[in-house]
Amino acid sequence: MHPIITQHLETLFLKASRGAARKAIYALRARQGGESALAALYDAMSQSEAAQARRLLIQLRGQTGTSGDNRQTCLTEEIPDLIENYNTATEHAREHGERAMQGAFSQSARVEKIYLSLLRKVEQNKISQGHYQVCRFCGFIREGHEAPENCPICTAPSSRFQAVGP
Ligand SMILES: [Fe+2]
Repeated sequence: MHPIITQHLETLFLKASRGAARKAIYALRARQGGESALAALYDAMSQSEAAQARRLLIQLRGQTGTSGDNRQTCLTEEIPDLIENYNTATEHAREHGERAMQGAFSQSARVEKIYLSLLRKVEQNKISQGHYQVCRFCGFIREGHEAPENCPICTAPSSRFQAVGP
């Protein structure tokens, strides 16, 4: 692939990923303001940009491997790499007195560590159905059909949780 096309793919991937995250936040804000039609459109746009980002990533990295390969990549590379980045960011935020960011980065590192334990549980067949509750504020994931009263990572109320599963 021509280097300029690779560069476009990388830039567009970052922008589409950021766009998807921002539209999800805009949807929450619109819903809080009672603008439900606008909120639904932002949700649709968020999912659309997430799909665009996935398509761009496939072009950049090639097709993903088998499900077993992907699980190993998650367990041994992607998630540990992100935890390390969050830990370094947490340390830098601490050094520079950025308390809010220190908290946010360290919460994200804890959430990523939870991914590892959930993936291992699936790997060991300790989770059969795959019902989860996801905190829409910090990303904390809990197994099961019930959201906690408050998120154990960021203290968001159960209303901020989204159910995911079959
Ligand atoms: Fe949370």
